[in-house]
This record gives sequence, structure tokens and C-alpha cells, in this order.
Amino acid sequence: MGSEPIFIGDGAEYDLNQFKVPKKYIEDVSSIMIPSGLINNRIEKLAEEVNEEYTNKNLHLLCVLKGGLQFFSDLMHFLEYYNESFGYDFIQLSSYKGDKSTGKLKTIPGSNLENITNKNLLIVEDIVDTAQTMAGKNYVEGEKIIGGLIEMVDNYNPSSVKVISLLLKRTDKSNGYKPDFAGFSIPDKFVVGYGLDYNENLRGVPHICVISDSAKKKYEIKK
Ligand code: IMP
Repeated sequence: MGSEPIFIGDGAEYDLNQFKVPKKYIEDVSSIMIPSGLINNRIEKLAEEVNEEYTNKNLHLLCVLKGGLQFFSDLMHFLEYYNESFGYDFIQLSSYKGDKSTGKLKTIPGSNLENITNKNLLIVEDIVDTAQTMAGKNYVEGEKIIGGLIEMVDNYNPSSVKVISLLLKRTDKSNGYKPDFAGFSIPDKFVVGYGLDYNENLRGVPHICVISDSAKKKYEIKK
């Protein structure tokens, strides 16, 4: 199984002037939590570990859009060096509004889960926070209660299901679920960049950064 996630300490942050940050994002982030170079090195190692786990087994990745896309893409890049063949699909869920989980899981039309039957499925996620999405008690489309994405995909009879998440948040709101592979253990702060968004903004920040208070206000969804 995967190595322990790299522990990012509660106060471990870099100044914005210590790494290259596109000008347009400077006001929207308050500090850099994980620089892109470190993210990249960690993903290379995770790819090696994933490959070891799936030696002589089929492997099918399921990328959780949109936040997981950047991680998925870089993971796939490194997997090409190790893995003979693997397939992949995408699923889009929404359960977040601003910086709060709504507890409702919605699959967006176009998500194709028929391909995963009899495959060793590896769900690729950007961040596990409360773990409600992966293994909570969720309402689907506001109606049926299910146990999260892992339970949802199980209905399609994959041979096995594991989860890889780039980030694992240390929060007392967690339901206790831990992914099989995790890149970094991070403090309980709302982060953006490297694919992670705040109301669809700031996905393009190259590093994983702490969002600024002014950006939270600026991109808040007004009721
Ligand atoms: P969970 O259900 O609370 O584990 O959260 C899972 C989803 O919430 C992730 O896939 C993200 O889309 C979103 N999320 C949780 N924390 C953050 C964050 O700090 N920044 C951006 N998105 C987050």
C-alpha cells in the first residue's frame, strides 16, 4: 500500500514572493502551502506505488471532476513509465457550495460507469476533507441516501475499489475514512490551485495555496 502522506505542518506556508505566482492570482491567495515542484515529485512516487499495487492486474482510473483533473493528468503521465496498460473514465460530482459540503452528492450527466465492471478501480480525487463524498451518508439528487462514491461505484461490480487522493485534510469533521494512497496531509484550511477551486475560481493557481479572505468575499455565491 501507499507510503504515509507527507505531513504539512499547521504553520508551514511560504510567502508569495518565494515562488513564481501569476500576477492575476496574487490578491486571491494568502500563502503557498505546497509548491508545484514538490507536488510533482510526490506524484511521481505515488505513480510508482500504484504500479506496484497493480502489477499483473488490470487498472482502471476514475477521475473525479473537476478538481481531480490536474492530479489525474500528472499521475497518468508518470504511470505511462511503469504501467503496461490502464484505462480511465471520468465522473463529475457536486457536493460543495463555497467552502462547505452540502452533504448532497450529484452525478452530472455524461458520467460513464458501465466501463468499470470487472476492473480494478482506482478513484482519483483531489482532496479528502470530511470524507462525506467518498464514504458518507449522502443524498443523491436530494432523494436516496447512499454511502458515498465508493458505495455508488460498487453497484457496477468492479473487481476492487481503491482511492488515491492528492490531499488529506486533518479535520475534526472527518468521518474517519482514509484513502488507500494520499500525497499530503494538510491542516484544516481551505486551499485552492492545482485544480482545486472556490466556487469555480482559482483552479489555475499553479501551487496549492491558502485562499485569501478577500477572495472568499469576492467569489462568494450571493443568495
Ligand atoms: P469531502 O466530501 O468533505 O471529503 O470533500 C470532498 C470534496 O470537497 C473535494 O473533492 C473538493 O471538491 C471539495 N473540497 C474539500 N475541501 C476543499 C478545499 O480545501 N479546497 C477546495 N475544495 C475542497
